[in-house]
Amino acid sequence: MKFDTPATTNPIDQLKVIGKPLDRIDGPLKTTGRAPYAYERHDAIPDIAYGYVVGAAIAKGRITSMDLSRAKAAPGVLAIVTAAEAGKLAKGDFNTAMLLGGPEIQHYHQAVAIVVAETFEQARAAAGLVKVDYERAKGTFDLASAKDGATKPKDGGPDSAVGDFEAAFAAAPVKLDETYTTPDQGHAMMEPHASIAAWKGDKLSLWTSNQMIAWGAGDVAKTLGVPRENVRLMSPFIGGGFGGKLFVRADAILAALGAKAAGRPVKVALTRPFMFNNTTHRPATIQRIRIGTDRAGKITAIGHESWSGDLPGGGPETAVQQTRLLYAGENRMTKTRLAVLDLPEGNAMRAPGEAPGLMALEVAVDELAEKLGIDPVEFRVLNDTQVDPEKPSRPFSQRRLNECLRTGADKFGWSRRAKPGQVRDGRWLVGMGVAAAFRNNLVMKSAARVRLETSGVVTVETDMTDIGTGSYTIIAQTAAEMMGVPLTRVNVRLGDSSFPVSAGSGGQWGANSSTAGVYAACVKLREAVAGKLGLDAAQAQFADGRVKVGNQSLPLEQAAASGPVTAEDFMEYGDLTKTHQQSTFGAHFVEVGVDADTAEIRIRRMLAVCAAGRILNPKSARSQVIGAMVMGAGAALMEELVVDKRIGFFVNHDLAGYEVPVHADIPHQEVIFLDETDPMSSPMKAKGVGELGICGVGAAVANAIYNATGVRVREYPVTLDKLL
Ligand code: MOS
Repeated sequence: MKFDTPATTNPIDQLKVIGKPLDRIDGPLKTTGRAPYAYERHDAIPDIAYGYVVGAAIAKGRITSMDLSRAKAAPGVLAIVTAAEAGKLAKGDFNTAMLLGGPEIQHYHQAVAIVVAETFEQARAAAGLVKVDYERAKGTFDLASAKDGATKPKDGGPDSAVGDFEAAFAAAPVKLDETYTTPDQGHAMMEPHASIAAWKGDKLSLWTSNQMIAWGAGDVAKTLGVPRENVRLMSPFIGGGFGGKLFVRADAILAALGAKAAGRPVKVALTRPFMFNNTTHRPATIQRIRIGTDRAGKITAIGHESWSGDLPGGGPETAVQQTRLLYAGENRMTKTRLAVLDLPEGNAMRAPGEAPGLMALEVAVDELAEKLGIDPVEFRVLNDTQVDPEKPSRPFSQRRLNECLRTGADKFGWSRRAKPGQVRDGRWLVGMGVAAAFRNNLVMKSAARVRLETSGVVTVETDMTDIGTGSYTIIAQTAAEMMGVPLTRVNVRLGDSSFPVSAGSGGQWGANSSTAGVYAACVKLREAVAGKLGLDAAQAQFADGRVKVGNQSLPLEQAAASGPVTAEDFMEYGDLTKTHQQSTFGAHFVEVGVDADTAEIRIRRMLAVCAAGRILNPKSARSQVIGAMVMGAGAALMEELVVDKRIGFFVNHDLAGYEVPVHADIPHQEVIFLDETDPMSSPMKAKGVGELGICGVGAAVANAIYNATGVRVREYPVTLDKLL
């Protein structure tokens, strides 16, 4: 099915199941420990051996020699695979560095060997006996000093220019020119990267933790040089990804290599201290923002330049993305520059681009509002645009940013906000901050198979993943709504490369795109069912487990009396994103307290107001947004991978040194969804919220700290030492 005209009324609009705040259907499996995560498939796979990964101890250079003799002789060891043993491996389409390095070393903790043994302890002990000698090469590890050599990236960051930014900025009576920095950040998801590989002849079964099944299966095949159809990748449950599991990592490839060498299934989990340098991270940025306004506060010039670094062949953090679309202004400019750094691979992390971009832009906007003496909510409202500011003939499909800001201001008690440093509560200086939230709404082709079983149960199969987001539940809701059955009569099977290829979980496109694919398959199943029952499909209504036309009413399962009825289809997208800009919007409000003596920073309250199309399940959507707000609070106050600029690695590579918020850090959160449907997004009229929720949070926190203390910090994270 192709979606190329705005959605009209369709069965989803009945809202009998869709739009309800239902508990997640996989909840009981998770809370009772029965959800089969990748590392836990003891039930399905007998005789599993354990793999332990050895990582490079240098950031850049070459392996001059490897001595495996002591490790090979260690108790329980079954096999050791290095690049020399593995033969020629290819680089996948999605990773920048080789997932098994050697002799060339491209980054610290790049995998150089896997040791396979009978037990985990034996594999770990033997891994410690692998002796590697290196020849260290000089690397570049400091973004600030590499910045001047940065160049225009091949993709991911075209420069943009409208009007004459430089002249308009020079002439503006009120202007701001500031530079902001965001640090390297790690995904730090709860479940580490983990895989079990089992070969049957030349066919590989790989249970892994991966957001994008089809990309993953393709890259495993490519890396190992085996036919794509010989790889089956399964990832039915995932303990968080945040972009760190968009692509297969060393655990998957090395489990496959280890299993081949050992002639046994092999499981590999990357240990927590290994993950931060071995896998990917959100790259640090340096962002210069210049904004000029007239005396009334209308933006006349807006410019945003961003620098980030990555390994050779890598891409930039596209931190200027939102600045091209968020505010009006006739003269505009953005530039993205990429430096070569020999740190571990940079890549996507929750709302890549916008998350760090808004951490800078929305502080700049706060600073400018203050210069103008305009309330920061009003300043944003004043500079709203209902069209793409680079291309005014192209409207937003929906854009209710102002309503988000005004609703939030009202609910949060924004009118009580005082001038900086004026509000005291005991030893706490108290302040409020606001920021706009913005994230694009991408749509992706997504397929599904649905089957009416003879029992009357509807089975849905798609390779979509549920990374903790609630995909199982919203997909079940979609099928239930379309087929007119209760949720309990829908069985959802996800995360298997033998199922039709879905949109996968990335870029907050998963919810809308994957359910749209299920919608398309259900449209076909409805036709097939009506046909079997001898009813006119165009007239048929599916409700209460029955199919009705006029006063005829038949039980749904009667269509499957002689066997299951199956339908498969996909949703793909036409040109609506060319004629209309599709984005999601929100406003974040934060209240903080800052200890007047020690500068300890505590968040007191958080509110998000979101306008993101139809909310398919307000409960799971709220969970997405509050989780993202927590992550935004971490970005504002704690998260920073500290670079050792001599050796070239992230020093604080565990959860003791890499701090993320805990419950005590987030006392109160509220989320409001504006009632919205977007007919341009898909027949579901939905959009994504999982990334919108983090966008702008960091700036709202930083702005609240400024309002509490009068101290402006432009280097994240905002830690207490920067306030003293
Ligand atoms: Mo996302 S960073 O596309 O998982």
